[in-house]
Amino acid sequence: MLGNFKYDNPTKLYFGDEAQKNLADALKGFGNKVLLTYGGGSIKRNGIYDDVMAALKASGKEVVELPGVMPNPTVDKLNEGRRIARDNNVDFILAVGGGSTIDYAKAVSVSAWYDGDAWERFWVRQDDPKAGERIIPVGAVLTMAGTGSEMNGGSVITNRGKDIKIGKVFGSEVMPKFAVLNPRYTFTVPHRQMVAGIFDTMRHIMEPYFSGDDDSVSDYLAEGLMRSVIASSRAAIKNPEDYEARSNIMWSATWALNTLIGEGKPQDWEVHMIGHAISAYTDATHGMTLSGVSVAYYRHIMKYGIDRFARFARVVWEIPSEGKTNEQLASEGIDALAAWIKEIGAASDIASLGVTPSMLEGIADATLFMTGGYKMLDRSEVIEILRESL
Ligand code: NZQ
Ligand code: ZN
Repeated sequence: MLGNFKYDNPTKLYFGDEAQKNLADALKGFGNKVLLTYGGGSIKRNGIYDDVMAALKASGKEVVELPGVMPNPTVDKLNEGRRIARDNNVDFILAVGGGSTIDYAKAVSVSAWYDGDAWERFWVRQDDPKAGERIIPVGAVLTMAGTGSEMNGGSVITNRGKDIKIGKVFGSEVMPKFAVLNPRYTFTVPHRQMVAGIFDTMRHIMEPYFSGDDDSVSDYLAEGLMRSVIASSRAAIKNPEDYEARSNIMWSATWALNTLIGEGKPQDWEVHMIGHAISAYTDATHGMTLSGVSVAYYRHIMKYGIDRFARFARVVWEIPSEGKTNEQLASEGIDALAAWIKEIGAASDIASLGVTPSMLEGIADATLFMTGGYKMLDRSEVIEILRESL
């Protein structure tokens, strides 16, 4: 049975191959001074910066630039952004980039006018902004598909000094007010990042799917999304400029984590927790940390959720079921997942991401243990899964 929930998502989306033409309109009513934040410069090379600046100019905005948001954005970078946002008293933050830049914009948004230690408050203690506290509204121009940050409240920040990476899911007041999604903007994403984004999307669908055993509409939606992601991944790898494939990937990524398919059912975010701990130690690309441990994790928990794993094999991978036990089918489904990871070129292990045996204890210590999956892990099981993933 579906549980009770409130779904509240205020993000307005503009989708399509000329979606950026709506940007000037979208910016109306958000004040004059805009903090434009972006990553390491890809937007200057592929022309997205020019499109955005033209829209900002057309709407008469005063622009303060905050470049250099790194993948896996850090507390130090957050503190720099807070200072700049506050010193300039900006009215709005426009994030142009992938999940890192959009997550970062949300982090600056809630932290700029808070005087204390924002990392400690929002990420360690998982506090929420209080009613009446000043939050700077955020908008997004998405340049890479994967995280779903464009339509959710997630903001993942890394503390390099402490080797911890923590995600905070803020409420609707922090979600982007709007997001511009032009699939054509993703054509220039490097192959490895495209693949990481595709696997991240797949995982965001699998987290709610591999949980619970009720008949839930969410699981049917998840199956459709997974089938589309697999088909589109193959087309996009063959031709990165296949608009149909890139648009399907972009839209699936948004759906995968605008939290809709997870509503009313338990979810299993353990792979994400292990992945965050790996990134905290190695700065590895998010999606690759997930593909690196997924197969070992699923082999480990398969027997606790055998029916769902068998259904995954049958429906998502179309593996014939005649004459097979659920155990055989379930195992073949995980084999198919492992083969797809190889086929698209996502990481099949974590050694290739820089993880060494001496890091395993520390990574296990940095891993949060989640309920919601078919088996709640303990520390020794995390170490076992990490060792099998090396
Ligand atoms: O920095 P630039 O120069 O822009 O280059 C970026 C970056 O190097 C590049 N890129 C992005 N769009 C491009 C492009 N290069 C060429 N052309 C384009 N159009 O791609 C690289 C990766 O970008 P990044 O934003 O780091 O990738 P992603 O979107 O995967 O974001 C990863 C971050 O999001 C967090 C992750 O933990 C990680 O910190 N997540 C956020 C979530 C959320 N908000 O709900 C959930 C996710 O599970 C995830 O944890
Ligand atoms: Zn993710």
